[in-house]
Amino acid sequence: MGNIRNIVVLTGAGISAESGIQTFRASDGLWEDHRIEDVATPEAYQRDPDMVHRFYDARRAAVQTKSPNAAHEALAYLEGAWPGEFLLVTQNVDDLHERAGSKQLIHMHGELAQAWCTLCDQRHPWATPLIDYPPCPSCASPYSLRPDIVWFGEMPYRMDEIYDALARCDLFVSIGTSGNVYPAAGFVREARSHGARTLELNMEPSEGSAWFTESRQGPATQLVPQWVHQILGF
Ligand code: APR
Repeated sequence: MGNIRNIVVLTGAGISAESGIQTFRASDGLWEDHRIEDVATPEAYQRDPDMVHRFYDARRAAVQTKSPNAAHEALAYLEGAWPGEFLLVTQNVDDLHERAGSKQLIHMHGELAQAWCTLCDQRHPWATPLIDYPPCPSCASPYSLRPDIVWFGEMPYRMDEIYDALARCDLFVSIGTSGNVYPAAGFVREARSHGARTLELNMEPSEGSAWFTESRQGPATQLVPQWVHQILGF
């Protein structure tokens, strides 16, 4: 991979599938007979906060019983070994990338492991249920903590930093995402428009597969370590 200096990696639910966290597609977009779009929205939170807290409390607790897999670990290794710039952007709200050791990481759709106070705007690491309406650690208000998750209709986080990195990258790699949800689904075109090579590692071709210079199909725990060895020239 001769003239590759700056790398941007995008991950989606597929990278956590082999850790036992169901992808959105595999769950047919359902949770307890609710469509996820009907739960992951500000309107749902206004209408029925308990239901929304139950949904995220269950997912937060489930993630705590899972572990990073070989794909998460390979990306953390690459970040440490890579001489140029390396940025990992994830659509996932689990903390498996952090637990594998990734540091240059942006959670563009937020994190289950954080709570956000809608009154004082402070964010707090969070591991326990929010359905008990615990007081905000900063402003002590009793009903103001929500999951720090970007809901449908809300702006994903740190988009400026992401577009800056896409403008500078020589290689954009998309792992385990179906390419259904924007703005992440448009990152491959953004990277290409700045002349980057683009690689897709996914169980099946994504919606945007045709935009990738190369697309490899298979499980992330095989494709990602293989690619990391290749790019490091082992
Ligand atoms: N290895 C590699 N890829 C896999 C694996 C695996 N073991 N298992 C599944 N995949 C692929 C599927 O083929 C699919 O293309 O991962 C992709 C998962 O797609 P989705 O379930 O749609 O998840 P994602 O693309 O991350 O969803 C994006 O949509 O629901 C919203 O905000 C939510 O962040 C989420 C966004």
